[in-house]
Amino acid sequence: MGKSPASQRTPSSQILGRGVIHQGNALQVLDGFESGQYQLIIADPPYFQVLLEQEWDNSWKSPAEYLDWTIAWVRACKRVLRPDGLLYVFGQPGKREHVWLHACSLLASEMQFHDMIIWDRAVGYNERSDSFTPQYEMILVLRPTAEGKPFFNKDAVRLPYDEKTIGVYLRDKRYKDKPAREAHLRKGKYATNILRIPSLKGISQEKVGHPSQKPLALIDALVSSSSREGDLVLDPFLGSGTTAVSCEQLKRRWVGIEWDPGYVAMSRQRLESLLAKPELSFG
Ligand SMILES: C[S@@+](CC[C@H](N)C(=O)[O-])C[C@H]1O[C@@H](n2cnc3c(N)ncnc32)[C@H](O)[C@@H]1O
Repeated sequence: MGKSPASQRTPSSQILGRGVIHQGNALQVLDGFESGQYQLIIADPPYFQVLLEQEWDNSWKSPAEYLDWTIAWVRACKRVLRPDGLLYVFGQPGKREHVWLHACSLLASEMQFHDMIIWDRAVGYNERSDSFTPQYEMILVLRPTAEGKPFFNKDAVRLPYDEKTIGVYLRDKRYKDKPAREAHLRKGKYATNILRIPSLKGISQEKVGHPSQKPLALIDALVSSSSREGDLVLDPFLGSGTTAVSCEQLKRRWVGIEWDPGYVAMSRQRLESLLAKPELSFG
């Protein structure tokens, strides 16, 4: 896997559950999509020469070429995004920080900067000896225009308080209506833009063999906050199909694009075993 002879990259598509996987080059496939259809786009693109053994992370001659390509696919995503939609772009400041930082700056002039999320992987990855151990990745959040107000459901990403904290807060004498105060506390607190979600370990049951598979809980947070049931969600770099799995479970319609036939097969298998579970009812 990871080797994708050009001859195998002929565009084709297959329907699975609420969605469709297109096998092909994201830019070419996006070209055929209608404008303004997607409520949410989650893009986890190649990083540029971080995963040196993966052909898909090494097909640009220079940072400038990679940045030109990045601008081209972001423009294509902007065209297909709804006016109240959000585009999430994953990036890693690790080994190629100059490329990611330039990408952030360039993309913030292509679209409106909306937020920068830190994905705290909870455990460091030991990539350098000359500074602190890297532990986070970044997710740049963009909206189509400065004026536009994107859909965002903060209640969908509340984090529960533990019983001890609820007990401490309930002893606060300023709140006279204890039942109302307790009901409020039991809803939990709003998630911050630092999402602490452990990266997948080698032994994780969730892992299906893609070198940069993202945890389902991380993608769930983006999908549940930034779309409603029935909305259309796009992932132009589907990889192992994490966005598709999240959308199936959260009842969103989805479209994924992936050019490597091996990863398309991996996503399909993941979805087929999910769809075979009786508890996943179609509504
Ligand atoms: C960082 S990975 C995505 C991982 C994914 N988020 C997951 O959880 O499995 C990027 C993926 O983009 C695919 N890819 C790279 N260039 C592409 C292109 N031009 N069009 C479509 N897919 C591409 C790679 O094969 C790789 O699977």
